[in-house]
Amino acid sequence: MILVTGGAGFIGGNFVLDWLANPNADGILNLDKLTYAGNLTTLESLKDDPRHVFVHGDIGDKALVAQLLKDYQPRAIVNFAAESHVDRSIHGPADFVNTNIVGTFNLLECAREYWNGLDDAEKKAFRFHHVSTDEVYGSLSATDPAFTETNSYEPNSPYSASKAASDHLVRAWFHTYGFPVVTTNCSNNYGPYHFPEKLIPLVILNALNSKALPIYGDGQQIRDWLYVGDHCSAIREVLAHGKLGETYNIGGWNEKANIDVVKTICTILDELQPRPDNKSYSEQITFVKDRPGHDRRYAIDAGKVERELGWRPAETFDTGIRKTVQWYLDNPVWVEGVVSGSYRDWLQKQYS
Ligand code: NAD
Ligand code: TYD
Repeated sequence: MILVTGGAGFIGGNFVLDWLANPNADGILNLDKLTYAGNLTTLESLKDDPRHVFVHGDIGDKALVAQLLKDYQPRAIVNFAAESHVDRSIHGPADFVNTNIVGTFNLLECAREYWNGLDDAEKKAFRFHHVSTDEVYGSLSATDPAFTETNSYEPNSPYSASKAASDHLVRAWFHTYGFPVVTTNCSNNYGPYHFPEKLIPLVILNALNSKALPIYGDGQQIRDWLYVGDHCSAIREVLAHGKLGETYNIGGWNEKANIDVVKTICTILDELQPRPDNKSYSEQITFVKDRPGHDRRYAIDAGKVERELGWRPAETFDTGIRKTVQWYLDNPVWVEGVVSGSYRDWLQKQYS
């Protein structure tokens, strides 16, 4: 078995589904706290699959994590569990410190204790894969080269600062204790099962619900978008063949300004599900107050993972975004299930 944390969230959920789509894959023990961002409906198709064991719990719960490791004896841990939304980290940073830093610390300590008790062959094969973000590197100007693994850490938001801290802990556990870690720092993901507080799903659903499409500031901020299935394939590759103690940047070579992302979504929706009045969804674009401390540009140089492990994304932005829009059109039941009262409260707090 492998232990996946945060496997009911956006990327973790996609990872679990992709992994178990392979009939020969190891089983998954999925530990998730089911915060507002965790949705068991994402894993509905696995409810009768004995290879998937779901446990509702917190990575910060030492007794629970230690017991799970003892009972299930995983050969690897992939740590997705985190608070992940920059805007929420601005309103309330405490949960980010608790889960992203203290939770990761707890997971590392429990895993190290478990690993110490393994026999030599199991010890050698064991991996702790920490899933992190490009946001730890801070913000680029328009002309800066893309982030490489040797860029210094300059996080600017409570979210990125908490992820940076967790990356440092993971690095230290390798150097100090010889604990077998690999870390991936990935750019912005998009795709199915993405909670609609993030830009791409928010815009798709707001467009369909005749609501404003909010663009922060001038909309010229740049993100480097990666289809979530490609992120999952990169993690599988690094988990299997990554060098211990190394970090790998994962990205899609798809730098886009926010305004262009939103206009692309509008164009696809105009084609797939035209507005009743036949006007373009782009008429709903609304410029709103900028995010405090908004990072201007992220861009990933994914050359190392390509050179050393032969990984490259399969999707371009054009193919991935079309699939994503289509997925949201085809899955109103999933959307209905996640758009709860607490989601509506968040929209009110953030956009009113
Ligand atoms: P998400 O917010 O959609 O999902 C996070 C999941 O973790 C949820 O299911 C939640 O219930 C669970 N969780 C939160 N706190 C927990 C805790 N204390 N114990 C156990 N489970 C807990 O996030 P995501 O977008 O799927 O991101 C997953 C990981 O990938 C995060 O570590 C994030 O930093 C990283 N990442 C995300 C992106 C992106 O664009 N979304 C890009 C690069 C890296
Ligand atoms: P987001 O999806 O929150 O990811 P991150 O902040 O981690 O990059 O936002 C992506 C970009 O879109 C970011 O530059 C902020 C911007 N944005 C908007 O312009 N409007 C919105 O309503 C949201 C949620 C984000």
